[in-house]
This record gives sequence, structure tokens and C-alpha cells, in this order.
Amino acid sequence: MANLVKTGISGLDAMLYGGVPEGNQVIIAGGPGAGKTLLSFEYLYRSAKMGVTSVFFALEETPERVLANAKAAFSEFKDIDALIKSKKLIIDGEDPTAVLHGGSESGTSQYEFGKIVSDIESVVVSSGAKRIVIDSLSVIDMLVSDQVVYRRSMLALVNNLRRLGVTAFLTAEMVTPERRELRFKMEYFVFDDIVIMYEKGEEDKRMLAMEVIKTRGSKHSFVTTPYEITPGGVSILSAEEMGL
Ligand SMILES: Nc1ncnc2c1ncn2[C@@H]1O[C@H](COP(=O)(O)OP(=O)(O)O)[C@@H](O)[C@H]1O
Ligand SMILES: [Mg+2]
Repeated sequence: MANLVKTGISGLDAMLYGGVPEGNQVIIAGGPGAGKTLLSFEYLYRSAKMGVTSVFFALEETPERVLANAKAAFSEFKDIDALIKSKKLIIDGEDPTAVLHGGSESGTSQYEFGKIVSDIESVVVSSGAKRIVIDSLSVIDMLVSDQVVYRRSMLALVNNLRRLGVTAFLTAEMVTPERRELRFKMEYFVFDDIVIMYEKGEEDKRMLAMEVIKTRGSKHSFVTTPYEITPGGVSILSAEEMGL
């Protein structure tokens, strides 16, 4: 049995029956606004607080925006700057406009993809990070239009992360939040674990719920569990609290 890495998000660790198997790659899938970026940020924030060097690699927004949004949403996380200063929490990334520049020419995009992978590798190696977030895979999807190249790129990314020995969260944009309409991209199955964040209802009566679809090498809850984004973090009701 692999060691379990605690995400530090208590409800999520309960759903994962203790945590993520060390070295696994977890896909965090969901619609826009579901909280993928914030949940991933909290995973690293909690890890950094536990003394584990953690890297957030932003591809969708600038690192500055990720940080500003996280501070605004999680106003109770007072020590974010201190963790960044002590280099336990590293927020890095690639300029989204530069990443997407010239996306469809396969020569260019393969070069850009290779650059992303090697930039991720150098920040992990130089910092000695054990946890990483890549936000998001959808940017890479946009970057690489050829499906064969895309699958090869995903496999290259997986192999690289595995070789680096990091426990990774990778966010992915889902077109529809409906469970029955889910059409997984085949390449997501090359990743170890899948967590889905659903958003239901209208703007003013929004319902958020999370489901663990699979974890490689470990058991997990099958209960779709409501969550909220609060100033103190993502609050996930455990199955026990729901009386199940
Ligand atoms: N300052 C804030 N205060 C409260 N909730 C916020 C704040 N900022 C963002 N949120 C919540 O977080 C959601 C966006 O989270 P985010 O992680 O950026 O989503 P995703 O990455 O899935 O698109 C918003 O829909 C909103 O509910
Ligand atoms: Mg996001």
C-alpha cells in the first residue's frame, strides 16, 4: 500500500479515506467557477503549512491573479505571504497569452508544450517540491490541436511528474456538470485519480457537490458530497456528518 498524502482539506481526506496515494496525479474536473483553482490552492496552502514545499503552476491566469483571488476568497488564511516568503509555497506559471500564441501550428505548440514541461520540472527540481498543482490542463488542450500529439503530450507530462515523485493536482475544465452527460476524455484515464466538482441550480441558489470517481491504489467514498467555498477554506461535509 502506498503512503497516503493528506490534502489537509478535512472533508476531502475523509472522501479519500485518508488522502491521496503518494506520487499520484489527481484530476480536479469541473465547470467554470466550481472552485477548482481555489481547492487546488488550498491543497498547497495546507501542504506548505505542514512544512512540505509546494508549487502552484498557473497557466490560465497570471500567478499574481491566482494569489490575489485566493487571498480574497480565503480571507482567513493570514499566513499566505509568510509561506511564500519562506519558499514553502511557490506560485509560478507561464504567461497565458504567450502560451496560447500560435497554438495551432503543431511545430510551435509542441515546442511550447515542451517548454511548459521543462519549466515545471526546473521549478520542482530547484525548490525540492513534493506537491504541485497545474492549473489547468485545458490550456494544454487548447495549445495542442492534433489529438495524437495531445495524447502523447499528456503521457509525457504524466511520466515526467511520476519521475519527479510529486503528488499532483491537475485541474480540467468540464463542459457540462451533469454526471450522466459526462464524457471523459480518454487521456484523463492515464491520470491516477479523478475528483469532480459539480455546480447545480441557479446563480442565487447554487448547489456545489464533489465526487471521487477513482483513486488508483486506494479506496474512496462513492458519495457525492456537498461543499462550500468559505473564508476559512473549502468546506466539505463528510458522509458521516451527512448521517450516511
Ligand atoms: N472573494 C470571494 N469570496 C467568496 N467566494 C469567492 C470569492 N472568489 C471566488 N469565490 C468563489 O469561488 C468560485 C471560483 O473559484 P475558482 O477556483 O476560481 O473556480 P474554477 O477554477 O473552478 O473556475 C466562484 O464561483 C465563487 O463562488
Ligand atoms: Mg480556475
